[in-house]
Amino acid sequence: MNLLVTGGAGYIGSHTCVALLEAGHTVIVADNLCNSKAETIDRIEQITNEKVTFYQIDVTDDKAVDTIFSNHSIDGIIHFAGLKAVGESVEKPLAYYYNNTVSTMVLCQACQTYGVKRFVFSSSATVTWRCLTPTYQLIEYSDKFDAVRKRPLDL
Ligand SMILES: NC(=O)c1ccc[n+]([C@@H]2O[C@H](COP(=O)([O-])OP(=O)(O)OC[C@H]3O[C@@H](n4cnc5c(N)ncnc54)[C@H](O)[C@@H]3O)[C@@H](O)[C@H]2O)c1
Repeated sequence: MNLLVTGGAGYIGSHTCVALLEAGHTVIVADNLCNSKAETIDRIEQITNEKVTFYQIDVTDDKAVDTIFSNHSIDGIIHFAGLKAVGESVEKPLAYYYNNTVSTMVLCQACQTYGVKRFVFSSSATVTWRCLTPTYQLIEYSDKFDAVRKRPLDL
């Protein structure tokens, strides 16, 4: 299959690319390298002796994502392109929500437009933390993570 791996230059994404290539799939990576390096793509190719098509794009950019789907017949997406640093997510909550939710919506829209039925989403705890720790609600934050105060949720 032709599989689009977003965040494919990152930690989990790069290992997934190796496994997919070794299983005989064609891998297209979309990554903006905000938390990774282009050399990782070279390492994936060296390890597997297979070619990776790499797009250095931001997957919140719907036009850039559309270019990939126009250029390739994508059979499925594995979506790892997320921000996941817990401390930073508290310092910059809107940036994290924007990156992690808009990217997912852009990719879902592309799936709908191009009829892609396979989508694996590696969700980030930096967006879903409230679901994962339902006993606390963030009521105040400042520039310092240590200054974050929490109170029990009214469940
Ligand atoms: N590492 C873990 O143990 C773990 C566990 C469960 C879920 N996850 C989730 O899996 C995802 C990947 O985790 P990871 O540990 O591989 O992180 P990572 O930071 O190593 O990889 C994420 C990759 O996505 C890229 N990226 C981020 N935003 C992007 C955007 N808007 N457009 C294009 N590329 C973008 C980064 O440059 C990076 O290469 C995250 O959502 C994370 O929360 C990770």
